[in-house]
Amino acid sequence: MKKLIGILLLLAVPLAGVASGHAHLDSANIDLNNKEALHKGAKYFVNYCMGCHSLQYERWERMAKDIGLTKEQVMDNLVFTGAKFGETMKNAMPAEDAAKWFGTAPPDLSLIVRSKKGGPDWLYTYLRSFYLDPSRPFGVNNHVFKDVGMPHVLWELQGLQKARFRTEKDAEGHEHEVFEGFELVQPGSMSPEEYDAMVRDLTTFLAYVSEPVKLKRQHLGVWVILFLVVFTVLAYLMKKEYWKDVH
Ligand code: HEC
Repeated sequence: MKKLIGILLLLAVPLAGVASGHAHLDSANIDLNNKEALHKGAKYFVNYCMGCHSLQYERWERMAKDIGLTKEQVMDNLVFTGAKFGETMKNAMPAEDAAKWFGTAPPDLSLIVRSKKGGPDWLYTYLRSFYLDPSRPFGVNNHVFKDVGMPHVLWELQGLQKARFRTEKDAEGHEHEVFEGFELVQPGSMSPEEYDAMVRDLTTFLAYVSEPVKLKRQHLGVWVILFLVVFTVLAYLMKKEYWKDVH
C-alpha cells in the first residue's frame, strides 16, 4: 500500500509542476460540434496562417467531409495553392526560405493543440497575447511564448496592445517582473469581443485537426449510450420473464 501511495505521489509531481510557474491561460471554451465555428475557423486558417504553416496530416477531402463542406465549397473558397482535393493541406512556402526569413521555420500545425500543455486554451491565449516589444525583430513579443519568431499576423484585426508589468521583490529580495495585463493602444478593425470569437473559431478548427477522430468518437458515443440504455431495458424485461415463475 505504501508503495502504491509512493507511485501515486510520483505521478502527481509533474502535474503540480505544470500547474505553477506558467502564464495563466484563458479558457478557450470551444465546441467541436459547432459546424459554423469549424467552417469559419477553416477560412481564417487558410487566409491568415497557411501562408506560413501547413497541416501535413490533414487532407482537404477529409476536412471537407468531417466538418460538412462540399468539394465545390472547398475548392472554390479555400484552396489557393492549386492543390488537388485529395492532397494534404501543405503550404507553398519552402521550409529553408522560411527559416531564413523568420529565424525558425514555421512548424506544421497539425498536432499543435494536442502538443501543448493546456491544449486549446494555450492556442487561444497565445493568439491573443502578442504585445509591442521594440527589442524584438518584428516589434512584438508574446506573453505565453517568450521571444517567439512569429510576427503578430492578426494585428490589423486585433489592434496593437502593450503589456503592463510590475516589479516585485520575492522573499530573498530578488526583483522579478509580474505580468499585470494588456492595454490596447491602437484598436484594430475588430472589437475585442469579435477578435476573441474569431480566435475561438480558429482554435476550434485546429483542435479538430489535431484529433479528427474525436468528432467521430463523440458521435459514436451517443450511439453506444443509446445501445446501453436499450439493452438494459431488454435485459430487465428478460430477467422478469425468466424469473416470473420461480417465486
Ligand atoms: C508570416 C509567417 C507566419 C504566419 C502568417 C503565421 N505564423 Fe505562426 N509561426 C511563424 C513562425 C516563424 C513560427 C515559429 C516561431 C518560433 O518557434 O519562434 C510560428 C509559430 C507558431 C506557433 C507555435 C508553434 C510551436 O511549435 O510552438 C503557433 C501555435 C502558430 N505559429 C500559430 C499560427 C496561427 C494560428 C496563424 C494564423 C492566424 C499563424 N501562426 C500565422 C510564422 C507565421
